[in-house]
Amino acid sequence: MLDERNIPKHVAIIMDGNGRWAQKNNTTRLAGHNAGMRAMKEIVKSSSAWGVEHLTVYAFSTENWKRSVEEVSGIFKLIVIYVDKELKELHKNNVKVNILGDYSKLPKESVERLEKALGTTKNNTGLQFNIALNYGSRDEITKAVRLISEKVKNGEFTPEQITEEMIGQHLYTGGLFHNIPDPDLIIRTSGERRLSNYLLWQSAYSEFAFPDVLWPDFSPAEYMKIMEEYQSRDRRFGGR
Ligand code: IPE
Ligand code: IPE
Ligand code: MG
Repeated sequence: MLDERNIPKHVAIIMDGNGRWAQKNNTTRLAGHNAGMRAMKEIVKSSSAWGVEHLTVYAFSTENWKRSVEEVSGIFKLIVIYVDKELKELHKNNVKVNILGDYSKLPKESVERLEKALGTTKNNTGLQFNIALNYGSRDEITKAVRLISEKVKNGEFTPEQITEEMIGQHLYTGGLFHNIPDPDLIIRTSGERRLSNYLLWQSAYSEFAFPDVLWPDFSPAEYMKIMEEYQSRDRRFGGR
């Protein structure tokens, strides 16, 4: 049972293990990504139902371009399929879609669908479903440094006036873009225990969970177990 007063406001997920799931099930990597999409659909629903305010999923990293052209273009095609199939339902459930990352580098068809999803859901007030696409923390921080440098150059403020808050504001999650609070809980499936360039700045005081389950097998029941365990943790933020 979840304690309604202690639901994490922001859950961030590294959806990892699609390829290994495919291998285990004797199918293609793309079929693995497709199965991952089905899992994601359920986790969006659970997050909404439990009152999580922000769900951020890592869908494609700035490093994932290193994969084969077939795999990369297959993943982008799945985005088109996902929006075509799910947008109506997301909108009906009052979910607002946001994108973190420079998605303009994706194929035209994917960009169009994503913009359709952003436009359709822009006034929704339920779960904020943030999709990290062509996202990398170092890229995000580099862009923030550039934006801030420009402002210093223009005389808007001096270097001494730069604060942690200001840096946060200039990240994709920041007030200048989406105003997403730091993640309370970061989940990475598939047993890997690393961040792979995800939310490095924002995760300073996040709690972590590393379930062994491969992403396509990650079910609402697994998610519930992690949420319950999260609720038993003592977060101190450097205090005593
Ligand atoms: C995560 O699954 C999905 C993406 C990175 C797009 P992987 O494709 O990384 O799966 P594994 O790690 O090879 O099993
Ligand atoms: C991180 O997973 C990126 C996504 C889940 C989208 P990877 O599978 O790309 O990360 P590494 O290469 O194992 O660190
Ligand atoms: Mg992986």
